[in-house]
Order: sequence, then structure tokens, then C-alpha cells
Amino acid sequence: MRAVVRERYGDSSVLRVVRRADPPAPVRDQVLVEVGTAGVNMADWHLMTGLPSVARLVFGVRAPREHGLGRDLAGVVRAVGPEVASLRPGDAVLGTAPAAFAELALTRERALARIPEGVRPEHAAAVPTAGTTALHALRAARVGAGSRVLVLGAGGGVGSLAVRLAVLAGARVTAATSPGKAATVRALGPESVVDRSDRSAWGTGYDGVVVTGGLDPLRDLRRLLAPRGALALVGAEGGGDVLGGGTTRQLRAALLSPFVRQHLVGVVSRDDPAALARLRDLLADGSLVPAVERVLPLERAAEAVDHLASGAARGKVLLAVSSPAAGPSAGG
Ligand SMILES: NC(=O)c1ccc[n+]([C@@H]2O[C@H](COP(=O)([O-])OP(=O)(O)OC[C@H]3O[C@@H](n4cnc5c(N)ncnc54)[C@H](OP(=O)(O)O)[C@@H]3O)[C@@H](O)[C@H]2O)c1
Repeated sequence: MRAVVRERYGDSSVLRVVRRADPPAPVRDQVLVEVGTAGVNMADWHLMTGLPSVARLVFGVRAPREHGLGRDLAGVVRAVGPEVASLRPGDAVLGTAPAAFAELALTRERALARIPEGVRPEHAAAVPTAGTTALHALRAARVGAGSRVLVLGAGGGVGSLAVRLAVLAGARVTAATSPGKAATVRALGPESVVDRSDRSAWGTGYDGVVVTGGLDPLRDLRRLLAPRGALALVGAEGGGDVLGGGTTRQLRAALLSPFVRQHLVGVVSRDDPAALARLRDLLADGSLVPAVERVLPLERAAEAVDHLASGAARGKVLLAVSSPAAGPSAGG
């Protein structure tokens, strides 16, 4: 099978598309998926570069132990292990798998959800990690009907889904984004869209604030909140190669939260079958239409990761893996 691999950490020049042995036949609760479309996330950039370097303790200190890359996918089940009850060969699915930038990916049943006919693969591949993280962030920020919520980084993968999911939950959403993405973000239905570079426009007194971009210090973020508001820290780039500014801020928030009236939470994304099923249902009934900026063929994975890491992507960047319709660039 064709797959994106890298044998060392580095910039996108370490990525190569090679012929690799197919994964083994699934055992127990494993599922083998023929990947149609893969979604690119900042996590892929982190695993490619090995930054922040604390991540290398998990993924390989000197070099990555797993040479494949990628996580989010939409595809078709090719084979299932004997313990798999909810999926059969031929089912269309969305979800996550290690090394998903490949024609075949081996994962576990709980990391997948069946998608009904009519859900576009590029929409399905856009949501597993970012959508699950957005749902977890909204829960952490205690977002519900009528609550006032601010999303920072609203034009990114997690931010754009957080905006849409908060709107669907009945919240009153303010979306802070860069001017070039304002139109894309406005289409998601927030009450207002503000320029992220103009802090005086952000407002204050929010019940919940979701942070998916920018290294604003904790004290500044707390000033955006109501006295008993909740802050959900998803992440941010930069701020140190060892731990990373976003992670450091999450740790500070965890230490401070027990001593203040506001609720300060670092969001940690994880597989969540219920969240995946919810995202699938929202895609199926048309209420969630992810912002997809571009779909590139697997061979252009390096360009896709670079574009996402540039911060300029308006929504998700995807890879067409085995779709015969894969073209050099097809917007969505
Ligand atoms: N905690 C977790 O479990 C978890 C899970 C997924 C992702 N993450 C992390 O969360 C962050 C967002 O992920 P993502 O997939 O949504 O990435 P993304 O698609 O690159 O979106 C990040 C957005 O942040 C905004 N941004 C960039 N630079 C900024 C700056 N200097 N100041 C303010 N905003 C800035 C940009 O949006 P605008 O132009 O709209 O402002 C950008 O699109 C990343 O750091 C990622 O590593 C964490």
C-alpha cells in the first residue's frame, strides 16, 4: 500500500510517500479500514517535528517509533476482528487510526463510527479529532443554551467546529478570528465575529471561553470571563520547544483552578465513541457542515501539513488517499 512515512523528526522534508507492507489482518476488536480521505491536524505537525520535545518521551526519544503519520480518516471497512460487533466489511466509517495517511489503516472498533449514505467523505474526515476536541472543550467551558461563549482561533480546525457546535447547542457565540477568515467563520452562525488582533473588541463577562490559538496569558484570559465563568484551554502553538506554551499554560491553569471561583481547564483530546456518534449524526442531518479549505492528494502531504502549520488554513486541510477523484486541489 502507499503510505506517508518518516524515519526521523524534522520539518516536512522528512515526509516520503512509499510502498509499505499492508497492516496485518485484524484481531480481537481491530478493524482494517481502506482510507478514502484523511484529515490533517496540528497533532500531525507535532508528531512530524517531535515538538514540543516532551512528546518524544511517548513517541520515541531519538526517532519516531511508528514511521507512519496521520490520525483522522474517512473510509470503508475492509475486514474486522472476531470481537467487532457494530461494523462489517463494506461499511463507510469515520474515525481515527494510527498512521492514517495510508491506503490501509488498522484501528479499534471504538475509534470508528459508521456513517450513513449521503455524508461526504471530506466532511467525515474533517471532524474526528477536531470535532471530538471541540465537544470536550465546550463541555469544559460549560457551554449550553443561552450561555455567552467566546471562541479564540475560530477560523482553525477545532475553533471552527467549536463555533458551529456551540451555535447548535443554543449558545450566544462570539468568534475571534483573523480578518481573512471572517467570512468563513460568519457562515458558521455566531452572534458576532471579531478581529482577534484587536483585544478591545473581544468583549468580557463570558460564561465560557474556548482557546484554540494564541498564547495570551492566563490572567488576560480570566479577565474575559464572568466571575464564575469557565475557561477551556485546547492549545496554542509556540512558546518553547520543550514543553510548549500551550501545555505550560494548561498546567498553570490546573494548579490555579482549585483556588479561584472561575473554572480553568486544560482540554486533552481522547477517543470518545459517544462524541464520534454525535458528530456523525450532526453530519448526517446536515446541521454540521465543516469548513474544508482544501483537499490535496496523498503525495502532497508535506504541503498539507505545512499549510496547516502556517496558521493560514480556513478550516480543515484534507488528503485524498484512495479516491479516484483526487485532484491537485479541490475546495469543499
Ligand atoms: N488539547 C488537545 O487535546 C488538543 C486537540 C487538538 C488540537 N490541539 C491544539 O489546539 C490548537 C488548535 O488546533 P487546530 O487543529 O484547530 O489548529 P489550526 O487549525 O491550526 O487552528 C489554530 C487557529 O489558531 C489561530 N491562531 C494561530 N495563531 C494565532 C495567534 N498567534 N494568536 C491567536 N490565534 C492564533 C488561527 O485561527 P484564526 O486565524 O481564526 O485566529 C488558527 O487557525 C493547536 O495548538 C493544537 O495542537 C489540542
